[in-house]
Amino acid sequence: MAKYVAVAGKGGVGKTTFTALLLRQMVHQKRGISILAVDADPNANLGEALGLTVTSTISELLEQTKDPKAIPPGMAKDIFIEYKLNQSLVESKDIDLLVMGGPQGAGCYCYPNDLLRKHLENIGENYDFVAVDSEAGLEHISRRTIPHIDVMFVISDSSARGIRSAGRVHDLIRGLKSAVKTIYLIVTKTNEESMDSLSEEIEKTGLTVIGDIPLDPKVVEYDLAGKPLYDLSDDAISVKAVDSILKRAGIFI
Ligand SMILES: Nc1ncnc2c1ncn2[C@@H]1O[C@H](COP(=O)(O)OP(=O)(O)OP(=O)(O)O)[C@@H](O)[C@H]1O
Ligand SMILES: [Mg+2]
Repeated sequence: MAKYVAVAGKGGVGKTTFTALLLRQMVHQKRGISILAVDADPNANLGEALGLTVTSTISELLEQTKDPKAIPPGMAKDIFIEYKLNQSLVESKDIDLLVMGGPQGAGCYCYPNDLLRKHLENIGENYDFVAVDSEAGLEHISRRTIPHIDVMFVISDSSARGIRSAGRVHDLIRGLKSAVKTIYLIVTKTNEESMDSLSEEIEKTGLTVIGDIPLDPKVVEYDLAGKPLYDLSDDAISVKAVDSILKRAGIFI
């Protein structure tokens, strides 16, 4: 069974940056394994961070199946949905990518939720490693469209408010009673003093800190230039920080 890793946290804390660098390190450190990235954020931009072109999201494709006239004559609706779901996979040499997209029209995936869950379960079986860039509300985790999670990284930026918010995400995850085996906190965009000054707030969350990712001028530069973070070099501060976090968390094993 694939190892599932998910990344959670409030808006703008650095989830996509971390997920992209996590995937980069998986490709570099574990050559030959099959990797699926899932962008579960309605405001999807993991593809951009990975340098992959996304043509359609799952929710757009599901929307198309709502029109009865779109279903080819003689084809059952769930077979048609399955066919559409299969079209949504972006394939590349090292990483495949699924983009969930935002809820369309009246608000939710509703009917196809079960089909989506089954699809993700089936597709997950084709990979050794699955990484999910979650949306802030953890909808796909609470609805269990994501089958199970081995390691959840909760991301906070280096503000006290960010840490308190990570604490609430932690409570939310515990409240879901979903199958999340291990949860770690990562603090991003840190400077030399950040971890000391935040230690009290961190303790209150009950989360275990697995490491921090310093504010990296290279990440800022790539962001401004619209360059994929996946192309950062091995000596970038953020890449080195993510690599040591993943080693400590036992992700490469
Ligand atoms: N270690 C870092 N050093 C410098 N800038 C960073 C770092 N991590 C993230 N950023 C910047 O912070 C901003 C938000 O990062 P990112 O998009 O990864 O956050 P997010 O949690 O995925 O946001 P959203 O909730 O909008 O999806 C981006 O401009 C990114 O370049
Ligand atoms: Mg993001």
